[in-house]
Amino acid sequence: MTVRRPLIAGNWKMHNTLADARQLVSALLEGIDRVKGVDVLICPSFTNLFPMAKSIAGTRIMMGAQNVHEAEKGAFTGEISAAMIKDTGCTHVIVGHSERRHVFGETSDRLGKKVRAVVDAGLIAIYCVGETLDDRDSGRTYDIVDRQLGDVLGEGVDPERVVVAYEPVWAIGTGVNATPEQAQEVHEFIRGRLGDIYDPKTASATRILYGGSVKPANAAGLLSEADIDGALVGGACLVAEDFLAIISAAAARVVA
Ligand code: 13P
Repeated sequence: MTVRRPLIAGNWKMHNTLADARQLVSALLEGIDRVKGVDVLICPSFTNLFPMAKSIAGTRIMMGAQNVHEAEKGAFTGEISAAMIKDTGCTHVIVGHSERRHVFGETSDRLGKKVRAVVDAGLIAIYCVGETLDDRDSGRTYDIVDRQLGDVLGEGVDPERVVVAYEPVWAIGTGVNATPEQAQEVHEFIRGRLGDIYDPKTASATRILYGGSVKPANAAGLLSEADIDGALVGGACLVAEDFLAIISAAAARVVA
């Protein structure tokens, strides 16, 4: 059996000025060494990437960006390329977050190009998938997730450079998390699909994170499921104590 090291990622979204960011990271660094065996990632806004790289230098905290433009370079005012992100010291980039899909209208075609740009730059893409409440209520969860995976992953995307995040849209920022059983069902489905797209060995080595209202109170339950290899945390990652509690829950993860 492949042992997948847990990954706890904090998506800061559009939060934290530089002063807030420095305070948050210094509080994280005070507590992080008490927890072993878990990979920890912060995803600040673009403007905070360089200063946060300094703040985390020499520590085990890794850094990711929240978005990327798919082109290598060019006349794309306001956009940031994968190479620029790499320059800051990032190792990861979140691609296909539901806010990018739904608020900014990013299509599968675009997201496929973004994932390729990230992977080609030698970075790791955290590729987000997930259904809306309407999709779930009409029994289309698996169809949607299946399409989101199939449209973007596969040929030309090195699976070693991909982490998948299952983020049901109805659970994001709502305080209503998927139950561990609901999340596990979809994670197991995703792993099966990764097996079809790549191969079963690759699928069993790929980390699949859960995101959507993860909090200290529900983290242990979610993280004890066999196919939940970590979390992509929004609101709770802005409070050092809560993010550290979720990291501790991952360290205590015992999968039967
Ligand atoms: P919340 O944890 O605030 O629900 O956000 C989840 C998320 O979107 C992480 O990317």
